[in-house]
Parts: sequence; structure tokens; C-alpha cells
Amino acid sequence: MSHIPNAFRIHGVVSGEHFTDRADEVARLVSVLREPGAKLLVYGPRRMGKTSAILRAVERIEAEGGHAILADLSTATTAVDAGNRVLEAAARTLGRSWRDLATSLAERLEARLTLRTERGTGLVVPSLQVGLREASPEEQRRALGSVLDTLDAMAGERGTVLGVALDEFQEIHRFGGDAAEWHLRGVIQHHRHLSYVLAGSAQELIRRMVAEGGAFYGMLDILAFGPMDPDHLARWIDERMAESGVQPAGAGVRAVEVAGPRTRDVVQVARKAWDRSRTTGEAGPAVVDAALAELVEEQHDLLLARWAALSPLQQNVLRAVAGGTTGLTARETLERFGLRATGTATNAAAALVEQGLLLKGDTPTGYAFDSPFVREWVRAHTLIDVGMGADELGERGAGSEER
Ligand SMILES: Nc1ncnc2c1ncn2[C@@H]1O[C@H](COP(=O)(O)OP(=O)(O)OP(=O)(O)O)[C@@H](O)[C@H]1O
Ligand SMILES: [Mg+2]
Repeated sequence: MSHIPNAFRIHGVVSGEHFTDRADEVARLVSVLREPGAKLLVYGPRRMGKTSAILRAVERIEAEGGHAILADLSTATTAVDAGNRVLEAAARTLGRSWRDLATSLAERLEARLTLRTERGTGLVVPSLQVGLREASPEEQRRALGSVLDTLDAMAGERGTVLGVALDEFQEIHRFGGDAAEWHLRGVIQHHRHLSYVLAGSAQELIRRMVAEGGAFYGMLDILAFGPMDPDHLARWIDERMAESGVQPAGAGVRAVEVAGPRTRDVVQVARKAWDRSRTTGEAGPAVVDAALAELVEEQHDLLLARWAALSPLQQNVLRAVAGGTTGLTARETLERFGLRATGTATNAAAALVEQGLLLKGDTPTGYAFDSPFVREWVRAHTLIDVGMGADELGERGAGSEER
């Protein structure tokens, strides 16, 4: 049976049979992307499935004969790179239906565009001239602005709407600061034939951007992208297993329990459980637990290096979040985990939140691990230092993220 591919995917975004539910979110995204001038902020924790849902909406619009593009800004280093991501997405998605896209962009953007014909597909992919990456920030921003202005004008000429989804859009702040945010606001607020979905997961940064005084204040509707319905996710995992010849035997519920609430973490555990159950043909809670443990051990070197880079106090805070039964600054926790004083403990926790290892959560200590794999690693490898055995820990309660 080894030729049957794993029923679960965790690399990149998922579509087709690997994607389930998110019906409300996808419906909302489709309607926003089809409405001229609409602007929606999609934000939520990492690994929830934001990008997959947006891609689903874009595909649906395309299937209905509409137009929408998804540009990923997560690796952009400059405003010019961001412009190129938009150009690439436009060429890839619209290239066939808007045959003159590349030439018309070239005309409008004059000398600033380079056209490259992709080998194999023959697709003409425009990009801003590399030299522009060295230009002043203002000039770079103008180039990004003119890419979007051009798309708006082209959609207008065709009497259509183009939905533009900018994934990890908060990255513009990293390379351009407040000025880049205000510039983007200025550009997108004038577009009558484009609609925008701005998506991201750097929650603090995004909260600041949309708060009073922030560049996007009052401009965007908001879609908070939360966890998938746990019952649905569990059922779906069981169904996928059953369809591919594995008896789930409660695997779905257990996977959500130990790895939830982030969709990717749950699917990753289900994927490993599926692998482990190939020989017996049955999954079940014990196989899921073993799958989680195996994933944790696979990441051991990485997690150890991450751990070693933390200060002793930060290490103790992680121990406390993994094993603590009272508030982080309660006397019992401070003493048991060597956290010294209230202030130092709180500061160390804040630094860990900043690094993305912890988040505020409805747990005994008030903090939860961002990743169930880090949580389990800390439990398995570091609690022994404070005289705690894994057997002393409650049923995955402490330190688990609230759903
Ligand atoms: N609707 C879904 N159905 C099934 N699996 C999903 C779904 N959404 C997400 N996943 C799982 O989560 C993984 C990550 O999804 P995706 O990249 O869309 O999330 P994201 O919120 O954009 O994450 P990031 O914060 O890393 O950008 C997918 O590869 C898949 O394993
Ligand atoms: Mg994403």
C-alpha cells in the first residue's frame, strides 16, 4: 500500500481535496474581491490557513470568470520587490485573459519595466528594472504605486473589477516604515476598479497599523481569521484517513486535542499519524501521541539551538509555562521555576512573546506556547531540571493555547 500518497499536506498552501471548510471566510473573501473599492484586512495567528483560504477565493473568482490575484510579500526586501510580486501574480493569473497586459504595463511604466519570457510556458512576466532597487525610497514607492495604478486603469478600461490580495502585507513596514504604510494607503484609497484584501499574521504590527493614528485606521473592514471548527477538523481528518484505507479510531479528535488550534499543526500531526499507521491500517489516539512525539524529536536539534540562545530567565519562563499551575508571577511559580521577581519574569515573558515563542493565553500562567511542538519539547527535555516528571503534568492542559 506504500504507493498511496499521504492523505494530508503541510507544505505550502493547500487546495483541492487537501482543503476543507472555511466556507464563511472564503465566501466573504470572494465577495470583497469582487466588489470595486472594497478593502478587507485578514489577520490572525500564524498557520491558521489564511493563505490557503485566500487562494481558494481567488480560484473561485477565476472559475466564475472574474479576476483576482494573490501576491505574497513575505520575502520582499524593498518596495520594488513588492511591486514585482504584484506584477508576477498579475502576469500569471491574468496573462492569458488580458493578452496585452505586459505591453500595456510596459507602456504605462515606460522605461522602468523589463519583460522576461518564461521558458516552458511562454508566459511574459514583467518586472521593474533591477536598478530601481537602488533608487531612493520615494522613487521605489512611486514604482510600486504605479504598478497598482496601472492595474486599476486597466481594470477600468475593461469595465471589470480586479481583486488584489496582498499576503503578509505588513512587510512593507519592515522595509519602508510608517512612510511606506501611509503611501500604500494613499495609493489604494483612490482605486475604483480594484478591491483589496490585505492579509498578515504579525498581529501586534497589524493592530498598530489599523489603530487610531495608524496608517490604515478606519479604512479596512476586518476579518479575524481564527481556528477552524475543531469538530469539523477532527471529522475531516477521520474521513481523509478512512478514504485512504486507514481506520481513524478517534485520531481526528486526538490530533485537534494535542496540536490545536492552528490548522497546520493539527494537519502535520495527522500526516505523521497516517504514516505511522500504514502497516497496521489503524490510527487512534496512541498513534497520534506517538506521531506528535516523533515530530518533536525530529525538530530536536533546531529546538535545542533555539533554547540555547535564550537567557536563563527566559528558559525558566518557558519551563513555568509548560509546567506551571498558578499565575506566572504567583509566589509559588516564581519560586519553583527560579523566576526571581515579578518584574523580571514579566519582562522575560514579554521578550518571548516578541520572539513569537509565547503568546498571551487563557492558561494557568496566562501564557501559552505558539507551537505545540515547542511545548512538548520543553516538557520532555527541560522539566526534569526543576524536578518535574512528565507524569506530573495534567492532560495537556497547562500551556496549551485556548481555542
Ligand atoms: N482549509 C484547510 N483545510 C485543510 N488543511 C488546511 C486548511 N487550511 C490550512 N491547512 C493546513 O495548514 C497549512 C498552512 O496553511 P496556510 O499556509 O494557508 O496558512 P497561513 O495561515 O497562511 O500560514 P502562515 O502564517 O505560515 O502564512 C496547510 O499547508 C495545510 O496543511
Ligand atoms: Mg500565509
